[in-house]
Amino acid sequence: MSVRRLADESVQPASFAFTAENLAWAEKRIGLYPPGRQQSAVIPLLMRAQDQDGWVTRATIEAVAEMLSMPYIRVLEVATFYTQFQLQPVGTRAHVQVCGTTPCMLRGAEGLIEVCKSKIHPEPHRLNEDGTLSWEEVECAGVCVNAPMVAIFHDTYEDLTAERLEEIIDAFHAGKGESIKPGPQIDRQFSGAEGGETSLLEKPTATREKFVPPPAPDAPATSAPAAATPTTAAKPKDVAEENAPALKGAPQEAKVSEAKAETERKAAAQSAKGTSGEPNKAMREDAVGAESLGSSLDGGKAVGKATVNAPADGGAPASVKKTKSTAKAGKASAREVSPTADHAGTPQPLFDKPAGAADDLKLIAGIGPVLEGKLNALGITRFEQIAKFKKADITRVDEVLNFRGRIERDDWVKQAKALAKGGVEEYRKVFGKDPR
Ligand code: FES
Repeated sequence: MSVRRLADESVQPASFAFTAENLAWAEKRIGLYPPGRQQSAVIPLLMRAQDQDGWVTRATIEAVAEMLSMPYIRVLEVATFYTQFQLQPVGTRAHVQVCGTTPCMLRGAEGLIEVCKSKIHPEPHRLNEDGTLSWEEVECAGVCVNAPMVAIFHDTYEDLTAERLEEIIDAFHAGKGESIKPGPQIDRQFSGAEGGETSLLEKPTATREKFVPPPAPDAPATSAPAAATPTTAAKPKDVAEENAPALKGAPQEAKVSEAKAETERKAAAQSAKGTSGEPNKAMREDAVGAESLGSSLDGGKAVGKATVNAPADGGAPASVKKTKSTAKAGKASAREVSPTADHAGTPQPLFDKPAGAADDLKLIAGIGPVLEGKLNALGITRFEQIAKFKKADITRVDEVLNFRGRIERDDWVKQAKALAKGGVEEYRKVFGKDPR
């Protein structure tokens, strides 16, 4: 294992800065994490910095630490732990990482290291004469089945011999690295058996019988109760419908009906008991990214359907109406049927989508492409809509997307007002910086 220390001060640049494009990327990346968890972006940011400059400098570590409000030592720990981070200047055309862990060592990694020593530099982490190549030994890269291997930047070259590695290094040195196909360097498909497949040789049959789950031991022998109501709670795919031609009139039909009836019976019983589903909510406590619209669960309270009407011109929603929702035995509870998502989890609009082209909501700090899609699905496509959000609108969107206060925390309304009034120029005037 190579010793991992920062490069000598003589080669350390005085400062580091992301390019504008990479800075925008980094800020979006940080925004993906829940409040207080921004430090989780440390590895992506270090990788982006390395992709930009070729290696991770002391200044890079300090800049990333400041962006994430982390002590320098914590970022240094990460950068020095993972061999994916280069702490010295590397070759401009290839930095060859030779795996020296047991499987690769047993299959000839030492011979590969000798090639690197003779063709690049006797010492790892040193540049060749013209600065185009460098090498190092690293730990397992996860392709042991095709050992021995090397990694060059983001690609791996596997099933190597010393001779083949020489050819590869020569190609990269000549600036023709792209002519070498990454992956196995012998006649092998990915990690398949050398010399061809040895198992699973049978051709798939044209018709394959679908698995039908057996009924639970306490399942009723007869068909489903008439009052059973479908719910969103883990409703299995309707096997009877999917396999209708194959199952028609067959004994399986009874089994399918029984299984379906049992599922519906259990769901109805669950609803009748008023089961709160708290464990699911608890499991989602950390998932503030609100990536699932099904996260409108409210901890067991029946949530009334809210309808927020926005004027067709894209203005503010006029009102928030709550209609009564009850959780009756034998019927789906409001928890189970989200007011803003159908049974397939597809979001249902809360607002009337205004006519005309949509604004780029991603200009608002805190909104990324995924979130923009969800807002659009709720009928929110224009800055003016967000600019005119009332407290009730914020609460509703916040609740549906499980934001836990993100809209106010990131001050979407103020940002949207500036963008709606004068676009990027106005945003700069108000906030003293570019929008994302
Ligand atoms: Fe070399 Fe795993 S041991 S890739």
